[in-house]
Amino acid sequence: MRTEKKFYITTPIYYPSDRLHIGHSYTTVAADAAARFKRLTGFDVWFLTGTDEHGQKIQRSAEAAGKNPQQFVDEIVVWIKELWAGLDISYDDFIRTTEPRHKEAVQDIFARLYRQGDIYKGKYEGWYCTPCESFWTPRQVNEGRCPDCEREVELVSEEGYFFRMSRYADKLLEHIESHPEFIQPASRKNEMINNFLKPGLEDLFVSRTTFDWGIEVPFDPGHVIYVWLDALTNYITALGYPHRSERFERYWPADVQLIGKEIVRFHTIYWPIFLMALGLPLPHRVFGHGWLLLQEGKMSKSRGNVIDPMVLVERYGSDCVRYFLLREIPFGADGIFSNESMLQRFNSDLANDLGNLVSRTLTMVEKYFDGHIPAPSTREKQPVDEDLQRLALETPQRVEELMDTLQYSAALEALWKLVRRSNKYIDETTPWLLAREEDKRERLQTVLYHLCESIRFVSVMLWPYMPQTPPRIWEQLGISGELPQHSWESLQRFGGLEPGTRAHRTEDLFPRLDIEEELKKLLGEKAGPTPEKLPQKTGDEEKPEAHDAHAKTTGKGAAAAGGEGLISLEEFSRVEIRVAEIVEAEPVSGTDKLLTLLLDAGGEQKQVVAGIAQHYRPQQLIGKKTLFVSNLKPAKIRGIRSEGMILAASGPGGELVLTTVDGDLPPGSVIS
Ligand code: MSP
Repeated sequence: MRTEKKFYITTPIYYPSDRLHIGHSYTTVAADAAARFKRLTGFDVWFLTGTDEHGQKIQRSAEAAGKNPQQFVDEIVVWIKELWAGLDISYDDFIRTTEPRHKEAVQDIFARLYRQGDIYKGKYEGWYCTPCESFWTPRQVNEGRCPDCEREVELVSEEGYFFRMSRYADKLLEHIESHPEFIQPASRKNEMINNFLKPGLEDLFVSRTTFDWGIEVPFDPGHVIYVWLDALTNYITALGYPHRSERFERYWPADVQLIGKEIVRFHTIYWPIFLMALGLPLPHRVFGHGWLLLQEGKMSKSRGNVIDPMVLVERYGSDCVRYFLLREIPFGADGIFSNESMLQRFNSDLANDLGNLVSRTLTMVEKYFDGHIPAPSTREKQPVDEDLQRLALETPQRVEELMDTLQYSAALEALWKLVRRSNKYIDETTPWLLAREEDKRERLQTVLYHLCESIRFVSVMLWPYMPQTPPRIWEQLGISGELPQHSWESLQRFGGLEPGTRAHRTEDLFPRLDIEEELKKLLGEKAGPTPEKLPQKTGDEEKPEAHDAHAKTTGKGAAAAGGEGLISLEEFSRVEIRVAEIVEAEPVSGTDKLLTLLLDAGGEQKQVVAGIAQHYRPQQLIGKKTLFVSNLKPAKIRGIRSEGMILAASGPGGELVLTTVDGDLPPGSVIS
């Protein structure tokens, strides 16, 4: 029987202009983990991905490769599908925008929008960024460069069709404001409102005539449909729209649309407006995740520093790559990818924590019970058993709550809490000592049963993130079978594992790696630069210290050093200091000094990167009110945008202490 709970999730459709790198894999792995999680918890899931094959950028890449565009994209799409297979991406549908099902639907949509007066003919004069396939007004262009990717823009002067964006701007603003979950994380929502909606939406040029690699305007040959109008509609054409197919009726609106932060504007302004014009409901959530960066900044083919996910998958397995991507960086924030940190996580979390738990437990089952899972004693239960059991039973709900808000890293952390608790349980109960005394046999049975059952809990919860590992664990536990047998409901009871089951201690799940050796091999295989070989930071990344989160409020400040360095009142009055409440705090990956903080600055949210990680734990900061400089020029620290500076004082021992205010002032209050 089909469940009432449905879940439709999408990734962006990728440009097949080149091979995809680890950054693209990040979005897709995240979507896959969410899709698998929902399947595991009983949802009827539809998971869509695909490729965005038209436009000037693809046409130029094909020309450069000396191929016709269709042949060019066909070859890359084969490679992309292989990559997704290698990463165990369980998509239900893969849409290509060159497929007839999509082309016909887009023409139908364009004609309809024209008929109803949303699209009209005119002349466009303005700027175009081909790599981003986006139009910019003179006000937005930055010294001849694209405000998004900073590459040169081209002047376009063309006859064509415009979409009347202004018609829907108020309605969209109202929707965004009344549906706080629509654009996530919240900081991206404010950016859309303040930077694009509030200044007024210009009509969008939605056709091109200077190249032909696109879908023709049905009633005006010679014009092709703007690639973003073509691409965005894939989310509905893949479900069968404009036909009210069963699939469309069942799954639309999407529950989650995952995208990278640089395409939030297309997905939360253009896309909902197109949907409004078509009279369709809007997706429930559009989540703009952060970027995967390298230590030297952005990953890009032109810089020659992309990481090839295929090499990593072939060498370490897809579960390792998936685990790292999902665990290392809090979803939403930017984070650093390095081979070295991936290998370190492999050794610490997979080999040491999980691998050891399974191998220690099953070795003892083999040794003390001839490989049969022992029955727990009905009399013998100690507080330590109850503690482990309680944590095992609490973890699924915790993981589910975190996955509902796409907090992959925190969900895995919750799961690892159980893994680590189980390892600690071995140390506390010392089964190898129990085994020496005949009268401790019953206690030994209880201990090993608890461990096996705890491993079963971990294995079921692990499946969405690392789908290859659970079957390997089940085989060792002797409960091989398909997933439903070990499903989510089975985690409501601690004791599902049948005593007497024949376990099979076979392989080590994750043999430890020699990191230095591996880094050398990877360098040989060109899986991207290793940290030792990275070029120095580029100009678009400031040193953390330059905008770091603390100012000097002790007597050692510049003004105290005699007359030199004194500033006038006027100079001081240019600095705006406000009260802000810390609403989110997360470590910046790849460093133990920095935290990314989200501040409520009274009506607006600001993100700052603060060098206080060695003085405060993230959780300690949430809810604290502090002072921050709110009119500091934004800077990039480790590739993360920092929009101000919180003020802290350094104590005599070098400790940093946040400034606070004497009195209960609302966030945003100006210090004067
Ligand atoms: N074709 C458009 C999307 C159209 S959706 C209707 C496009 N394609 S893309 O191939 O350039 O990028 C696809 C996705 O990959 C984006 O969400 C982008 O953010 C993501 N990533 C590409 N490089 C990335 C990183 N380095 N890190 C994280 N995600 C990155 O845009």
